[in-house]
Amino acid sequence: MDDYSKKISERMWNQPDKGELEAEREQTFIDDIVQKAHIERELLQSLDGVETAFDGGAGCGRFSVLLAKKGIRVTHFDISQPMIDKAKEIAEREGVTDKITFVKGALEDLSAYSDDSFDLVMSFDSPISYTYPNQEKVIGELVRIARKRILISVSSRLGSLPYLANPIQKNQFILDKNSKDPWVQWCLTAREQMIEGFAFNKDNLLKAYDSGLLDNIEDTKKAYDQGDAPWCISYHFMPDELESILKKFGVKDIKMAGPGAFARTIPNELLVKIMNDPEQREAFLEFCHMYDSNPYVCGMGKDNLFAKGIL
Ligand SMILES: C[S@@+](CC[C@H](N)C(=O)[O-])C[C@H]1O[C@@H](n2cnc3c(N)ncnc32)[C@H](O)[C@@H]1O
Repeated sequence: MDDYSKKISERMWNQPDKGELEAEREQTFIDDIVQKAHIERELLQSLDGVETAFDGGAGCGRFSVLLAKKGIRVTHFDISQPMIDKAKEIAEREGVTDKITFVKGALEDLSAYSDDSFDLVMSFDSPISYTYPNQEKVIGELVRIARKRILISVSSRLGSLPYLANPIQKNQFILDKNSKDPWVQWCLTAREQMIEGFAFNKDNLLKAYDSGLLDNIEDTKKAYDQGDAPWCISYHFMPDELESILKKFGVKDIKMAGPGAFARTIPNELLVKIMNDPEQREAFLEFCHMYDSNPYVCGMGKDNLFAKGIL
């Protein structure tokens, strides 16, 4: 099983177009804008005394490049070569390649790094969740290599369950209906068919609520064995569960948030209007950050549960 998660992630994220598509996410989907803006604000408030950082599952460099531009030496660690290639391209464009060390590797093995190696350790938008069933061990390892601060975001169980009861939920967040992104075009063309084929299934929801797994693992493994590149097996955390794991590994002053909790209450037409007006957009993202940081709403972030703490 352990091996399956890693193999599936590797195949999925190593598809050649992955880096390009991921780099354009914030031109495509509003929930991604809100989530990344939340993390950016958190990171920029956490840099006091930070000279080195580790980014686990760093993707195309959304946050590794940001920290490099602030003069921090960053280890950009990811399982996917297309992601690393895209990140290198962006780092070059931003003139910060000398600040970043690119490493291709899996979070399941961080033995190359000794204790307290980095002032700040981060891992955003679910790489930890993709290491199921090793997610708890991976969090322990990320804490082990951190000296001062840890900031992570993982898949959220309470936040993701509505997916199962709303197969068209991503449509709410499409920024540009003319985007060439295949996911945008799929959301638009498959909408009616998804509604037609939909039936509320309480048992499915309860199963996911109890297990933290939205998909059937056996089906995912079978698809992988047949040569497909299915979506990763992803473990979805409850807020109290994530907090107690971090506490167990000695993280203190833990603060949690649910990026997207406020935005998900607003219909697409209004979200698009806000995003297309720079002044409203800035004010909206600032308000979202404040609202989504309220611990009472953290479970209802869009798909991610954010946590930060100190060592
Ligand atoms: C949704 S992207 C997030 C990228 C970046 N952290 C961000 O927030 O923009 C998830 C990333 O995790 C990486 N990933 C998935 N499984 C991984 C694993 N087991 N070890 C390391 N990286 C992994 C993928 O290649 C991908 O780049």
